[in-house]
Amino acid sequence: MALKIAIPKETTANETRVAASPETVKKLIALGARVSVETNAGEGANILDDHYKDAGATICKTAAETYKSADIVLKVLAPTDAEIKQFQKATLLIGMLAPYANADLLKKLAAAHINACSMELVPRITRAQSMDVLSSQSNLAGYKSVLDAAEHFGRAFPMMMTAAGTVPPAKVFVMGAGVAGLQAIATARRLGGVVSATDVRPAAKEQVESLGATFVAVENEEFKEAETAGGYAKEMSKEYQKEQQALIEDTIAKQDIVITTALIPGRPAPKLVSDAMVKSMKPGSVIVDLAVENGGNCAASEAGKVVKKYGVSIVGHLNVPGRLAANASALYAKNLLNFVTLLIDKESKKIALNLDDDIIKGVLLTKDGAIVHPNFTDAKPPAKASAAKPSDDKAADDKDASEKAPAKKAPAKKAAPKKAAAKKPAAKTKTSEKKD
Ligand code: NAI
Repeated sequence: MALKIAIPKETTANETRVAASPETVKKLIALGARVSVETNAGEGANILDDHYKDAGATICKTAAETYKSADIVLKVLAPTDAEIKQFQKATLLIGMLAPYANADLLKKLAAAHINACSMELVPRITRAQSMDVLSSQSNLAGYKSVLDAAEHFGRAFPMMMTAAGTVPPAKVFVMGAGVAGLQAIATARRLGGVVSATDVRPAAKEQVESLGATFVAVENEEFKEAETAGGYAKEMSKEYQKEQQALIEDTIAKQDIVITTALIPGRPAPKLVSDAMVKSMKPGSVIVDLAVENGGNCAASEAGKVVKKYGVSIVGHLNVPGRLAANASALYAKNLLNFVTLLIDKESKKIALNLDDDIIKGVLLTKDGAIVHPNFTDAKPPAKASAAKPSDDKAADDKDASEKAPAKKAPAKKAAPKKAAAKKPAAKTKTSEKKD
């Protein structure tokens, strides 16, 4: 009997995405699998049951029917207890399981003998780029953050010179120039904004400037050392934070729009925009906090809400990639297809987990009733597991950074990523290659 892959309808509130597209269903079938899709699974992403059916999937009326005898379950978010009960023993579960925010989940999955893979943990090596869900989802979030800002900004983005007078361009400041931030910069520039950006990673400076934005940061020695071997941000010293804060305070007071995207894997998002900074902005300004699910970069943001304080709109939408569900699902589904292709033996058409493969080792959380991922087996708190110390980084630099990355970094972020097929902004390529 051919391998069965199940695609359920997501049950978490506000989750609009789905883990397969008709295109990936066709390709999964070409790999030798049977695919079952729960009815209306694609509703939030405008994919009809008939589209999946035409691609060769079987449409199931219930989740139980979808999961029955499934060898692989493809999900967007972590399963609920009720869902776990419906999986058969030894099912391979693949999704964005947010393991650092979900310690209990790992125990439950191990107890149920589910072999679980968490896609946020895909190591950032060249071979795995097409499976990088954080990139595919963050890229869309970065784009959407600018549109959300534009919606709440009662003014225009571009400069307009008219007979009735000149409309000034919107001043946009992007905090955190990773995948989401760079896409936000590119989008704000396309809309005609005057854009500046900050980041604690020195590599970001060149990328920001190559997109036509101005880079704002205290560029001292600590800044020059501030990137881990895996390319993620480190937590900065109190002194650095103080100096940077003074510069940021000055910058924010002059902005119309601030978009914050700053994250540190395994830690709460750094607080970058204080209440006083919000107050310093002109009424009518907008802050979009993309880090709101990780505690937020702005002191005044509220998860899932748009609030107004001192005349400034502070946008804290949850699941921003899900606000572009069709694109987010298509890219996420492609990430999963690329990963599943790695797991299925071409001859036997059965699951063949190569535990020596860095990608599989990097994502596999539980196997045969036990928690197997090194970041979780020793019950370390996430902060310790993920925050690399400067000395660790030096050691990492001496080795192949790409080999070190999976175990050291812990992209615990984005409980509902977040986070490719989406081409990264061109400016990133150089850094990615360097890192790989
Ligand atoms: P992220 O989502 O973890 O964080 C967003 C940004 O916030 C990062 O650029 C980070 O440096 C910045 N940040 C953290 N603390 C900050 C603070 N206090 N002030 C200002 N900014 C702060 O980052 P993301 O988007 O996942 O990218 C991380 C790195 O991974 C980047 O170097 C990126 O180029 C690289 N990357 C590599 C890929 C590969 O396959 N090789 C794929 C995608 C990204």
